[in-house]
Amino acid sequence: MPYRTYYQHCIAPDCGAEFDLDARLYVCSRCGGLLDIERREKVDSAALRELWMQRRASFDPRDRSGVWRFREFLPFTDDADVVSLGEGNTPLYDAPRSADYCHLPQLKLKHQGCNPTGSFKDTGMTAAVTQARKLGARLVVCASTGNTAASLAAYAARADLLCAIVVPSGHVSHAKLAQALDYGAKVFEVDGNFDTCMNLIRELAEDESVYLVNSINPFRIEGQKTVAFELAEQLEWQVPDHLIVPGGNLGNSSAFGKGFRELLESGLIKKQPRITVVQAEGAAPFARFYSNPEHFVNDEHPQTLASAIKIGAPVSWQKAWRAVQETGGSVITVTEQEIADAKAIIGRDGIGCEPASATTVAGIRKLKINENESVVAVLTGHVLKDTDYVIKYHDGSLVAPGGEKLASSFGNSPVRVSFSQDLHDLQDLKDILKIQ
Ligand code: F0G
Repeated sequence: MPYRTYYQHCIAPDCGAEFDLDARLYVCSRCGGLLDIERREKVDSAALRELWMQRRASFDPRDRSGVWRFREFLPFTDDADVVSLGEGNTPLYDAPRSADYCHLPQLKLKHQGCNPTGSFKDTGMTAAVTQARKLGARLVVCASTGNTAASLAAYAARADLLCAIVVPSGHVSHAKLAQALDYGAKVFEVDGNFDTCMNLIRELAEDESVYLVNSINPFRIEGQKTVAFELAEQLEWQVPDHLIVPGGNLGNSSAFGKGFRELLESGLIKKQPRITVVQAEGAAPFARFYSNPEHFVNDEHPQTLASAIKIGAPVSWQKAWRAVQETGGSVITVTEQEIADAKAIIGRDGIGCEPASATTVAGIRKLKINENESVVAVLTGHVLKDTDYVIKYHDGSLVAPGGEKLASSFGNSPVRVSFSQDLHDLQDLKDILKIQ
């Protein structure tokens, strides 16, 4: 594939500046707008579908990756020195209990928590860290609510790059912090929230030897957009009527928007799904903008127990807005109780996700989608990412940021038994389980 078909392009309608693919930029150097990576090439969609299927039987590490398998749509040459952990290839599950809960027979869950570090971030990180190495960066950095940190730390370790991460002190789950430390990243805990960390890291990234890989970096979006390709392929190129994603920094919704747009433009699909973004009620600047699209107003003090999406100043909101508008989607909010209950229901399907991911099922229940329509919810992180939350929900001790104690509506706390006093024989166990 000829290399020069790719370039960077400012999305601001009154700017539209173009830059070389390898210009080390995060935003437009002319107007500060967000950058997209664009391609100028027609494709043979039927031949590509077949090639991508054939690669599923290949042992080439790039073909084993659910991201690089679609490399005809990635801005790298064929001989790129790819940094991969075998990301992507995540399951698309039927989920009968969640479907019942949402009164929607055709609900499926795309579990991005099944990626190597347990979240969807890996699909973008493989592309961003590959680009970092290509540009000769020595240090890769990000601000994070936890998952980007875990993912970057792992990919930086694979690429043998130094890695520094800035997180809001006390607001990142132990599991995510543990991952970043274990993979050898230098972690800085900062007083403040994610948005404080993001501002700090953007200043740091002005230095030439540093490469920023938050989702403002368009290479992250390129990797993440392939999830749309994988999903479309799993559905035999019949896309669902609706795609529901959680919204935090709004990179993921932007990436789905770009992925589906490119698939449509290339003739690989016939229509785009309506993209709906779900935010937690206490951290919902994008939902407020959707209701009143005059000015985008940041949330100074975002609050939610879904710590992954506790973000008040999402950097990619213009791209996410484009995705919602182009596809006829929407942006809604859900309460802490709704998130917690939806999470428990997803768990009962034997799937399990972290709280931020459960905003999707909570949102779908509220959306009043016609039961004939097909819906895919994207679960962004694994249940083991935040086990404190799970245990507290089930034993009834989960407290929302405002101080309200959440109901353990679908609670399942451990039964304390003394073997000698309560459990003498099988009948005792059956009595406890209420089976005859
Ligand atoms: N779900 C999970 C599990 C996340 O970790 C994030 C973001 C989101 C949803 C929201 O995705 O930001 O693309 O809108 N986590 C980032 C992090 C911010 O630092 O790990 P988004």
